[in-house]
Amino acid sequence: MKYKSHIFSSFKAKLIGLMISVTFISLLMASVGLTVVQVKSFRNSLESSTLSNMEILSFNLIPMLVFDDSDSAQRLLTSLKTRPAVKEAEVYRLDELEGLVFVARYPEGGEHYVHKDIREYITPEFFGEKHYLTHPILLDRETVGYLYVYSVFDELGRFQLEIIGTVVVIMIVCLLLALIIALKYQAILLRPLRLLVDVTEEISINKDYSLRADSTGNDEFSHLALGFNAMLDEIETHDRQQRQAKLDIRQLNMGLEETVKKRTVALELANQNLLATLDQLSQSKNKLVEQEKMASLGGLVAGIAHEINTPVGIGVTAVSHMGELVAQLESEHRAKTLRPQDLDRFLVNANECVDITFNNLGRAADLVKSFKQVAVDQSSDSVRTILMADYLHEILMSLRPQLKKTEHKVELQCAPGLKVRCHAGALSQILTNFIMNSLIHGFEGVDKGVITISITKRDQRISLTYSDDGIGMDADALSRIFDPFYTTRRGHGGSGLGAHVVYNLVTQALNGNVVAKSELSEGLSFEIDFPERENHVVK
Ligand SMILES: Nc1ncnc2c1ncn2[C@@H]1O[C@H](COP(=O)(O)OP(=O)(O)O)[C@@H](O)[C@H]1O
Ligand SMILES: [Mg+2]
Repeated sequence: MKYKSHIFSSFKAKLIGLMISVTFISLLMASVGLTVVQVKSFRNSLESSTLSNMEILSFNLIPMLVFDDSDSAQRLLTSLKTRPAVKEAEVYRLDELEGLVFVARYPEGGEHYVHKDIREYITPEFFGEKHYLTHPILLDRETVGYLYVYSVFDELGRFQLEIIGTVVVIMIVCLLLALIIALKYQAILLRPLRLLVDVTEEISINKDYSLRADSTGNDEFSHLALGFNAMLDEIETHDRQQRQAKLDIRQLNMGLEETVKKRTVALELANQNLLATLDQLSQSKNKLVEQEKMASLGGLVAGIAHEINTPVGIGVTAVSHMGELVAQLESEHRAKTLRPQDLDRFLVNANECVDITFNNLGRAADLVKSFKQVAVDQSSDSVRTILMADYLHEILMSLRPQLKKTEHKVELQCAPGLKVRCHAGALSQILTNFIMNSLIHGFEGVDKGVITISITKRDQRISLTYSDDGIGMDADALSRIFDPFYTTRRGHGGSGLGAHVVYNLVTQALNGNVVAKSELSEGLSFEIDFPERENHVVK
């Protein structure tokens, strides 16, 4: 509202100001012109009446000048009393020798002009209300003297005041009229504009773009309203589209949020499932690792069983043969046909049988002993001091069933008296795995392979190098050898856990490290390095 009244007050002020100033300027110009003309004509009339009076006076003065009768001239001038406007009058005679000679003056006795330049007023002149006039006195067209008159026309001043007063009054009346007209017309002129502003204001407050300005009529304002309405049409369409777009975006956002929530829930679920699966996988892996350990133990048991079978079989055969010999001896003894040489033969044979049985049972006992040691080591975590060379022999003995079937050789390089305190079970598992891998993978298609195992001890650290001269591995396969489940024999008995178990045993049970080196068809080697266990450490 403030905004509106401000607009209109300023517009109104401008309109009124314009009308009043136009009126004022035109009135002023007219008044000034009129006043100047009026004053001029009033002056002219004053001047001409003065002039005609002076002519008469001059005519009467001629004889007085001719006869140098200054008294009469003085008397004549005194008659000027009847003309209150005349303030001073002087008469001069023009003498050929003396020039201008003073004759008479009105009012009498005053200081006379005595001035050669009274003639400069031969053309009469006004200075405000003061009027100066010098009239030549002529006789037969010859100047005999001059009459100089100085008048003050009070009425001219009054006239001027009157005329200015009238003009001022007229101007005031006209200005008032102009003001009234301006006030009246501004209301008429501004009404359509005010209506237009009302509409814009309502739109700006309520944002209702369906409103329209009144465009009836055929003046500039109705054209403006038409243009304004067209603009409103556009804005309304645009507004509608924008609202729709906003609505769409909001719906889209809501949909998006919903989708995101759903996806998040789904993801969380999937994540949980994944975690559970991962857990299961790690459990399965641990189980498999255990199985791998047990499997190598199982293989050991089978091998040992097979190995023991032979000496025990021989022992049984020898003992049964012995039984037969004893039975024969007994029957010969009962039949009393026993000869001394028969007894000698029996004794030789019986001794042989006992030897055979003794030897074979001894071998079986050895086998059982070494199996017991290796098997117990592999399935327990005990740390003990071993005589390395002997222990390596025992491990090889436990693998004899596998090695025996082939022409491969195992070379041991170990100082005979080398004693090492370590996790023996881990060591035997590691070497068993290496040897089995060489037999299965390294010597695939190789008839006479050589495996070399060398062990040295220096500064309480043990270095073990295992190598075979088999087919080896390429760089890519080598980089994955210790990965769990990496195998090239999946579906053919490979679990891919052997090398992984070795890695874990070296790094955890032996607290050392292992490096595998190989090139295709250049064999494979493992270098293991681990510290010897301190005496008091019992794990
Ligand atoms: N001595 C070796 N010579 C060549 N390749 C080998 C040797 N030892 C292991 N490998 C390769 O490494 C893979 C992984 O061995 P391992 O972890 O013991 O699993 P698995 O014996 O069950 O296959 C084997 O599948 C084989 O391809
Ligand atoms: Mg293996």
